[in-house]
Amino acid sequence: MIRTVIRGTGRYVPPRVVTNEDLTQWMDTSDEWIRQRTGIEQRHWIPAEGGVGSSDLGLEASKIAIKRAGWEPDDIDLIIFATLSPDIFFPGSGCLMQHKLGLTSTPALDIRQQCTGFLYGITTADAYIRAGLANRILLVGAEVHSTGLDISSDGRDVAVIFGDGAGAVCLEGLESEEPIGVLSSALHANGKFAESLMVEVGSSRLNPRISEDLVRQGRHFPKMDGKTIFKLAVQKLPEVVNEAIGKAGLSLDAIDLFIPHQANLRINQFFQKAMNLPDEKVYNNIQRYGNTTAASIPIALDEALQEKIIGNGSTVLFLGLGAGLTWGAVISRLID
Ligand code: ACO
Repeated sequence: MIRTVIRGTGRYVPPRVVTNEDLTQWMDTSDEWIRQRTGIEQRHWIPAEGGVGSSDLGLEASKIAIKRAGWEPDDIDLIIFATLSPDIFFPGSGCLMQHKLGLTSTPALDIRQQCTGFLYGITTADAYIRAGLANRILLVGAEVHSTGLDISSDGRDVAVIFGDGAGAVCLEGLESEEPIGVLSSALHANGKFAESLMVEVGSSRLNPRISEDLVRQGRHFPKMDGKTIFKLAVQKLPEVVNEAIGKAGLSLDAIDLFIPHQANLRINQFFQKAMNLPDEKVYNNIQRYGNTTAASIPIALDEALQEKIIGNGSTVLFLGLGAGLTWGAVISRLID
């Protein structure tokens, strides 16, 4: 049987650190409010003058993952690029990053699943690999949020949450009868909640897609109904985790580490309590990065591997919920 295993991981965040205190120069907020409501202490943003896209961050994370996997860029059969903040409206950042890797014909697929981009991406990669359509896949989650946020007090509920960054994972098909690699996946979406978190302007349903009037109304900034998303997250995440565990035929105890999407520390604490998990089984790093959307799970995976919290033989469960609404969970058993 062909299994989809992780061969190498990498992460990259831009060097500019923006603390909660830094945000107070632009908006009416406080370090205390942000820490209490979200757990975030700082985030990384690209330089204020711009010029760095999600493909640039993805490229840096990918170079590390490719090196650790012992691959050359030419070995890659498919690039899957997950982002809600593409460098340009089209073509996708996967194509831009493919070129920056020096490749000339490797297929590149962008996916638009926001905070569950990594979960949809690894499930897509697993399907490609098990169907024999590709054997080596580079999966990237990368975001540049900072240039799209309303950093005035009007946008403070959203602006304080998001950070820039990228994570990359090299996935490979391996013939094995042992239960290794991706063991199960449970994915869901409910478009009824699409407008609970969205960016509207620049879209095809508006004619013109952008105008001074629309910009004056601030409709080019993300809008979020935080309370609705929060309530859905604490309800759906335990459900989907139990679904993935059931599909894999495992017990809750068999999971060595839960790596949740980093949307809000309080959401992850609710999840931990609902599942009755000890602190050491749930990985959190939102304190240092904020919410990096499609990048948050691969960044956390890379950190947990580098910190040797997990390694050969560990069973890891990735989970997340975000805009779409989309949510899901994926279980993977790691090998060296
Ligand atoms: N600083 C200070 N005060 C603020 C800020 C801020 N940054 N933002 C909002 N406030 C104020 C509000 O104006 C409000 O004031 P009022 O009571 O005078 O009206 C008060 O604080 C409470 O605001 P709420 O919106 O009720 O705060 P809440 O406790 O809901 O926290 C938050 C907001 C942090 C956004 C929370 O709802 C949340 O994290 N929701 C989930 C977000 C999420 O998971 N998104 C999905 C992932 S992202 C993706 O998919 C791309």
